[in-house]
Amino acid sequence: MPENSTSDVQSLPGRIIRLRPQQRSNTIPAPGSSIIGRNGEIETTMSLIDDSGVRIITLVGPGGVGKTRLALEVARTVRRAAAREVAYIELAAVRDANHVLQTIAQTLAIPRSPDNSALSRIEEVLRDLDILLVLDNFEHLLGASEVLVDILTACPRICMLVTSRSVLKVSGEHVV
Ligand SMILES: Nc1ncnc2c1ncn2[C@@H]1O[C@H](COP(=O)(O)OP(=O)(O)OP(=O)(O)O)[C@@H](O)[C@H]1O
Ligand SMILES: [Mg+2]
Repeated sequence: MPENSTSDVQSLPGRIIRLRPQQRSNTIPAPGSSIIGRNGEIETTMSLIDDSGVRIITLVGPGGVGKTRLALEVARTVRRAAAREVAYIELAAVRDANHVLQTIAQTLAIPRSPDNSALSRIEEVLRDLDILLVLDNFEHLLGASEVLVDILTACPRICMLVTSRSVLKVSGEHVV
């Protein structure tokens, strides 16, 4: 397979390269009701996402404060604007930091391969994508924080929006 294969991506008109439809099937969960307030946080987060120099944003706060709700609102807004791809990765049920990469790959329907690590498969698919990767409920997986940096390093156009009860403490992290 050629090194820069595009077999897992679809080129649409314009410069944005998108996930294939089957990889987009992980739709952003629909919130049960309209969001109340949070205009300031939505605006701040949207501005950070729009800043190409910002690669990782963490929505931090105690349990139940509304981090996931805010992330869903932002994710849906970005998708509606269609300026970039959006993928939502639910991590609450993942028990082991070593399974984060596999979970990302599975959620994006990236095929397993005995010859390639999950990281290299993710990199191959996401390398050229303008994509917002929403990683929801990360606090129990902080051991995988540096792995996120590895993905960001390999995929220069990705922006990550993480929700977590504590900061990740990685280089370049913007905390909201
Ligand atoms: N601004 C809001 N408007 C309407 N509902 C909200 C808002 N913020 C939170 N909620 C609701 O409150 C509940 C808890 O919010 P949410 O799940 O986003 O919290 P969380 O900070 O992600 O918690 P955890 O750390 O446990 O994951 C959810 O039912 C959510 O829909
Ligand atoms: Mg949450």
